[in-house]
Amino acid sequence: MTGSDGRRPFVAGNWKMHKTNAEAAEFLEAFLPAAAGRPDAEIFLCAPFTALRTAVELTETSAVRVAAQNMHEAPAGAFTGEVSAPMLAELRVAGVVLGHSERREHFGESDTALQRKVPAALEAGLVPILCVGETEAEREAGETDRKLRHQIRMDLAEVPAERLADVVIAYEPIWAIGTGKTASAEQAQEAIAFVRALMGDRDADAATRLRILYGGSVNAANAPELLALPDVDGALVGGASLDPVELASIVAAAPVGGA
Ligand code: PGA
Repeated sequence: MTGSDGRRPFVAGNWKMHKTNAEAAEFLEAFLPAAAGRPDAEIFLCAPFTALRTAVELTETSAVRVAAQNMHEAPAGAFTGEVSAPMLAELRVAGVVLGHSERREHFGESDTALQRKVPAALEAGLVPILCVGETEAEREAGETDRKLRHQIRMDLAEVPAERLADVVIAYEPIWAIGTGKTASAEQAQEAIAFVRALMGDRDADAATRLRILYGGSVNAANAPELLALPDVDGALVGGASLDPVELASIVAAAPVGGA
């Protein structure tokens, strides 16, 4: 048990637009034996749509679970190029990343859409991994808390209190994503404790149980310090998750949790 109130550690690798089916299979061959050493941790691999079926099939006998990186809020409809929560659930996908800053920045992902996506994911039985975070300019202007409050309030507005603890939140300062610049331990702890306090305004029990991850240039070298922070329950890992040995070291760095 750590200072994290017995919350199960949660480490997610976000492959972004990387890995064909063949590459996903090659990754899993190396990663699964390494991940087997941490049955106490929840490990998710967030694969591109095209590699989901392969990843699900190859992880079926392991504790590793597979997530998508986006979905549409409607169950079906005239939305060319989109994929829905029931479609992902049918593939036995277990989760979905929602509101990643790259989707917000490059593809117009809005808080209004996220307000519908998070409950739609939960309804389909998917674990939503909701990303929030400030830009460098917002941090410098002292706007970090305001931005986080806005995103959390908007994106979770339609989630009933009894489902809040089923959401996983990833705090990802945008200036730390893919830049090699991580938040300091103090910045990560402060922002994540703030997010937990915001959740506490909605529901005290959910705030204690909900997992909040840090994301942004996490690697095997900085993971031990970040993952040991009292409010940090895990990591959302981009670049470093492409290498099975590196991701396994990050998983190994997660303090042994409760549950
Ligand atoms: P990074 O990406 O680890 O490459 O910074 C994190 C993310 O985008 O989730």
